Amino acid sequence: MAAASALRAGSRAPFWRASRSDCVSRLHTLYQTVELPDTHQMLRQTCRDFAEKELIPIAARLDKEHRFPEIQVKKMGQLGLLAIDVPEKYEGAGLDYLAYSIAVEEISRGCASTGVIMSVNNSLYLGPLLAFASEEQKQQWIKPFCRGDKIGCFALSEPGNGSDAGAASTVAKQDGSDWILNGTKAWITNAWEASAAVVFATTDKSVKHKGISAFLVPMPTPGLSLGKKEDKLGIRASSTSNLIFEDCRIPKDNLLRELGLGFKIAMQTLDSGRIGIASQALGIAQAALDCAVDYAEKRHAFGSPISSLQAIQFKLADMSLALESARLLTWKAAMLKDNKKPYTKEAAMAKLAASEAATAISHQAIQILGGMGYVTEMPAERHYRDARITEIYEGTSEIQRLVIANQLLKEYRS
Ligand code: CAA
Repeated sequence: MAAASALRAGSRAPFWRASRSDCVSRLHTLYQTVELPDTHQMLRQTCRDFAEKELIPIAARLDKEHRFPEIQVKKMGQLGLLAIDVPEKYEGAGLDYLAYSIAVEEISRGCASTGVIMSVNNSLYLGPLLAFASEEQKQQWIKPFCRGDKIGCFALSEPGNGSDAGAASTVAKQDGSDWILNGTKAWITNAWEASAAVVFATTDKSVKHKGISAFLVPMPTPGLSLGKKEDKLGIRASSTSNLIFEDCRIPKDNLLRELGLGFKIAMQTLDSGRIGIASQALGIAQAALDCAVDYAEKRHAFGSPISSLQAIQFKLADMSLALESARLLTWKAAMLKDNKKPYTKEAAMAKLAASEAATAISHQAIQILGGMGYVTEMPAERHYRDARITEIYEGTSEIQRLVIANQLLKEYRS
């Protein structure tokens, strides 16, 4: 791993092998100092350098051509960025979720599409495997997905149900030593490039969400086909598509943990995934703010840079405030997870705050740039298009509000 060895050559401990307990104990004081541990600062710099060199120069072209960043994703795998909290024994980076959040933000600042590709592999594919797979399954389904040789996807939503995740109509039936899957999964990020999917299907309709189970499906596999690539408003370099199962046969052993646990696996996975999307939104928001500040400093009107006008300064102040508040919420959710504390509510708060901040900040960035914000010559219009999805996938803003209110009331009543 290039970054790891580069860091090993320096005087500080490499962030890879840095003591995890050191990181965790220092996290307790993070809120007093709001200073990242050295390991996390080094990781941030590594990701920032990668984004500057490898992503920013090509992000507009990838977006325009709807092109998956294949070479960049491979390089990110070599840097450990596709499996950040996966233990080293499975060939992951062995870091924590705060590190993951920081890395997703920096990568998304360079290219939001690459940010979601990375987030889905880390949180939605490897996450449930780490938490629920048997040791044998981990060896088979985790290791090849850490280094960028293969990536994974997560198939929960269906054409007929997105927010109501418990209403899955894709069916899995046992047939001898196999499961046979039938149905269609929708909005699957990484569908076209994935070598495996975590798929949720009902094994017993009579008990509703308690009859949903999770399966590991290799891709490609007979009986599984891909729908058309969706033509999207933003994050156009990542693929989104349906997965169509028609008598798709997978071995019995591809069940994740136990029958009927699928809904819980999905909900727990989404709690972590929402920290990833919050971080992606932070990256988009930061990129939009950077673009607005830079433009405001250089653009002259009424005899001075427009950054000297109060109308612009008030906008920049509000943008910066929204971004920083959302970042603190996101880091808090990540730290709660790292410290094995409940974090469902905080992850939903982080995603809600960061995604709404990204939409608002990218909107204002265009306003500051004026006409230049509306044309593809500048990145502001791309940030605006990329931001919008963060309020929709991995649970809409409305779903986040439901999750927050449910958790709040549960705490009050207990
Ligand atoms: N962790 C663990 N268990 C949880 C949980 C959590 N966070 N949330 C709920 N559960 C459990 C409950 O304890 C309950 O368990 P019991 O049955 O044992 O009592 C069970 O799940 C059902 O809970 P609810 O009654 O609260 O469930 P619900 O049907 O009302 O749904 C919901 C709750 C929050 C609306 C949920 O359906 C949800 O999150 N929906 C949004 C789904 C979503 O985010 N989809 C995005 C898909 S991924 C994607 O975007 C594609 C991509 O590739 C990026």
